Amino acid sequence: MDLYSPIFTRASTRKFDAKPLPADTLKDLEAYIASVKPLVPDVKLTHKIVGGSEVKGMALPKAPHFLLISGGPSAAGKEHPLRNTAAGFLYQHAELWLYANGCATRWLGGAKGKAADPNHIIGIAFGKPSEPAARKPEDFKRKPLNEIAKGADSRLEAVRLAPSGMNGQPWYFIVDAGKIHVYYKASLGGLAGKLYNLTSLDVGIALCHLDVASEHEGKPFNFAVIRSGTPAPPQGFTYVGTAE
Ligand SMILES: Cc1cc2nc3c(=O)[nH]c(=O)nc-3n(C[C@H](O)[C@H](O)[C@H](O)COP(=O)(O)O)c2cc1C
Repeated sequence: MDLYSPIFTRASTRKFDAKPLPADTLKDLEAYIASVKPLVPDVKLTHKIVGGSEVKGMALPKAPHFLLISGGPSAAGKEHPLRNTAAGFLYQHAELWLYANGCATRWLGGAKGKAADPNHIIGIAFGKPSEPAARKPEDFKRKPLNEIAKGADSRLEAVRLAPSGMNGQPWYFIVDAGKIHVYYKASLGGLAGKLYNLTSLDVGIALCHLDVASEHEGKPFNFAVIRSGTPAPPQGFTYVGTAE
């Protein structure tokens, strides 16, 4: 399955065909999600695929399906510091898989299940788009590479195009000696910072694009949190981990 091409064409939509996807497509999606190598081994993530009548939230698009994503506490009973990042990483793979299979999506920070779930993280609406949800790479509204990265790596263009809540793009990458050190902004600041608090998930989405681009280029993707010797973060950013 080519997940690389959709990175350069995908567009979030609010316009879905109301018709549910074939049961086989949902089964294949489940099988694909189960096959993705997690970003970090010790984060427990779960999801449910539900219909629109089981979801609540402000200004939700009408979609035939919603992925509701949760993250259980770790074995130690505490929320893993990389829980949201791991969720962004895993379910952006699902997002790209859906585009590769002729569907469209929208991540929805405010979508939750009607049934209470203390471990709920986020939702994604998906289905067939009722009008094309695709664009040319030059039509993406994104920061230029020099604002989000120091040092060159051919995979960073795919990373640059990653979607994020409020299109905040709260990430920074430092390429150094074959490694890519990854940083994020814990808050978008200002009003956006009050309205949106999932920047830790956004950076996982960017890491998914780095993983997919690595596979495309035949390069390894191994993610680790290195405790010392990483380049200092730019002001306002926090170290997340290193890909090599
Ligand atoms: C984590 C996350 C949360 C989002 N939450 C919402 C939301 O609550 N409502 C909405 O309309 N769009 C939401 N979006 C969609 C973003 O606004 C959109 O991805 C961004 O503007 C980039 O556009 P693109 O996805 O078409 O490339 C969210 C996206 C992400 C990645």
